[in-house]
Formats: sequence, structure tokens, C-alpha cells
Amino acid sequence: MDIRTFLSALRRGETPDAADIAAFAAGLASGAVSDAQAGAFAMAVCQRGLGDAGRVALMRAMRDSGTVLHWDLPGPVLDKHSTGGVGDCVSLLLAPALAACGAYVPMISGRGLGHTGGTLDKLEAIPGLRVDLTEEALRRQVEETRCAIVAASDAVAPADRRLYAIRDLTGTVESLDLITASILSKKLAAGLEALVLDVKVGSGAFMKSMAEAETLAAALVETAQGAGCMTRALITDMSEPLSTAMGNALEVVEVMETLTGAAVNAALWEVTVALGGEALALGGLAADAAAGEAMLADALESGRAAEYLGRMIAAQGGPADFVERWPDRLPSAPVVMDVPAPMEGHVTAIDGEALGRAVLHLGAGRMQAGARINPSVGVSDLAGLGDHVGMGEPLCFVHAATEAAAEAAVRAVQAAYLQNAQEAPMQTPLIHARLG
Ligand code: URA
Repeated sequence: MDIRTFLSALRRGETPDAADIAAFAAGLASGAVSDAQAGAFAMAVCQRGLGDAGRVALMRAMRDSGTVLHWDLPGPVLDKHSTGGVGDCVSLLLAPALAACGAYVPMISGRGLGHTGGTLDKLEAIPGLRVDLTEEALRRQVEETRCAIVAASDAVAPADRRLYAIRDLTGTVESLDLITASILSKKLAAGLEALVLDVKVGSGAFMKSMAEAETLAAALVETAQGAGCMTRALITDMSEPLSTAMGNALEVVEVMETLTGAAVNAALWEVTVALGGEALALGGLAADAAAGEAMLADALESGRAAEYLGRMIAAQGGPADFVERWPDRLPSAPVVMDVPAPMEGHVTAIDGEALGRAVLHLGAGRMQAGARINPSVGVSDLAGLGDHVGMGEPLCFVHAATEAAAEAAVRAVQAAYLQNAQEAPMQTPLIHARLG
């Protein structure tokens, strides 16, 4: 295949041939496709789309760009994946909680993408923890510890590993086709029996409207089920960050506070339990989603999920005493500055994408390929929708490497908040819809 001819046809909106898509995905994995060509591909697909058949062909080709795992385990192999949002640290709670309920969870996850943080970057805020496991190490860990959260590798989903990083840097994330192929190629390469998808909608998500989220959810469910994986999707709210913190170590703090019961974040809990309930029902571990929710809540409340997280962290090279000693083990930023509200009033809107970009610019995400990120920076104690904040009172706290970075973030966060003196906004539900 001549890659230039393939790319020009895509640019003109012509329907690509499945064989050419497969050759392109193989070239992504082998390196035969250059970064420039991968960027041009992502931009053309964002602009023109691939069509239903092209999307399925890309997903399958990216899945088959490496090994597709098969398991022979005494319990169901389950997982969840989110389409991306801000302050979304559900995976760190859910993977060990599902394991504590009897599932096996080989979670292939992502790094920061666009304005959103990545599960892998959050985990790597834990000193010593590695996410680049070999296929053999992943298999051993899942058998012994029941859960692992790892990166796509040269062996498993290598095409997504490459294209994901290039999309992050080329403003080509928001594409139904690319998101579907990215998520499902790595999830299906992990050899899952059932998958639950968290399709985020709102200002902090890639899908800003309910119509876009429904279309993405339907494409994801149809494509995954067509490939033989039982799948459900929940459309969940992202009109404000799910956590009260954003940033890698700061979100791990929120996870540990919720998991250990020190300070439970109700929204994080609700979304985790809803997704987990569906996954347990799909995997046959619970009679239905309601029974699954009760099981999952018990795993969280009893401390069993925390135990599984501790074992997973130790198995991946993190501190063996992390669950007991996490406040001493996580890095913290040298500068902490409050963000004073410019007026008095209820918070009526939060631009989650702008908050995500403020956190990215603090150093929590990458501006260039392979750049090192700063695990300690971000924002904490975020005021939520409906909260009443007096003039000069903190909307949140910025955690930064320098005073100058903190001051820039203060201005960006102030611009991301809208306050109204009189009215609190109507409360929106966290779970908007269930599909599949
Ligand atoms: N998560 C992924 O793995 N890929 C995307 O494109 C978006 C969210």
C-alpha cells in the first residue's frame, strides 16, 4: 500500500478499504508508518470519519496489531474503561473492587489524553510503581493478584500505544472512530469476557452533548458486542470534575481517602458502584446490576478493595505498605496557593476542559512527546456546582512547582468558574443513561 495515496483518499472523505486500514495499523505497530503519517491519519479521520465499516475495521486491525490474550481462569475476566473526563479516578477504585468480588481484571489503561488525566500517570505518582509489564508478567500478576493496571505495549495493542500518544499531541482526540478503535482495540486485546464502558458527557469530557455521547455509546457497544464481548455502557455526568481534586498524586489521595473511608467522595463512590454493579452482573458474579452494586459497595466498605489495591501496587513495584502509609508515600508540590472567588455567589457552571488545561499547564500532563510529568501538581478542594462561595473565599487550591506557575493557574481556574449571586443550578443526575 502507498501510504500517501491512502491518506489523500481519507482526506477527500473516500471510504477506505479494510485491507488498507489493516496495513496502516500494522505499520503503526511496526514503525513503518511515520509520526507525521500517523498525525495526518488522525486529523483526516477526525475531519472526515471512517464510516461504520471503517471504524470496525480499524478497531479489529488495531486489536490484532499485537497479541490477543486468552485466559483460563476460575472466574470471569472483566474490565471497565472510560471515554475520558476530568478528575476521573474510578479505575483505581474499581479494578481492585472487582477483584475483591471474584473477577479477574487485566486493565490496559491510558495516559493523559487531551485535557484529561490518565490512569497510568496517576498510578505512576506512587513511587516505584511500573505500568510497563511484559505479557508474561501481566499474566502472572492477574493469576496471582487478580488485577493489574498496565500500559499497552509492544506486545499487546501496540498500534494504540503509538496512535494514542500522537493524538494527544495533535488535537485529534475528539473522534467517534478514533475513540472507539482506541478503547476497544486494547480492551479486546486483553481477552475480556465482559466490559462496562463509562461514556462521559459534559464540559470536562470529549463529548459535550448528550446526543454525541449517545452516538459514541451506541458505536462502542455495537462494535464490542459485534466482536464477541458482552458490553454495557453508562453515560455519566462530567459537567463538573468527578473528584474534588485533579492532578496525579492529588487524585490518588482522593482514591485512598474514599477506599479507606477517611473521607468518602460520594460522586466517585456512586459512579464506581454503578459501573461495578453492571460489570459483576455481565460477568455472572451477581444476579443483576442492583445485586452487583451491593456486592461492590460491600467490597469498598469492608476494606477488601483496599487490600487488593495494596497487593496490586506491591506487585507492580510500589511500596508494600502503601495502603497504611499512603500520606507519607506520595509526592507533594512546594507551592500551594488558594484561588480566591472573584465574586460572591453559587457556582453555576464549571468549564471542565479549561480546568483540565490549567492542570496540564501546571505540568500534570505532556506538552511534548515523552515529556516528564510532575506527579505532585494540580488542584484540590474544588468547589462544586451549586456551592455558595463568598468573594475572596477559595474556589480551590492550586499545587504548583513555582509561584509563577501557581499564579497563572489561579487566573485560569478563576476563568473556568461561573458564579451567580442568587440561584443555585438544578442538580443533574450522575448517571444519565444505560445502554447495551
Ligand atoms: N480512552 C482511550 O483509551 N482512548 C480514547 O481515545 C479516549 C479515552
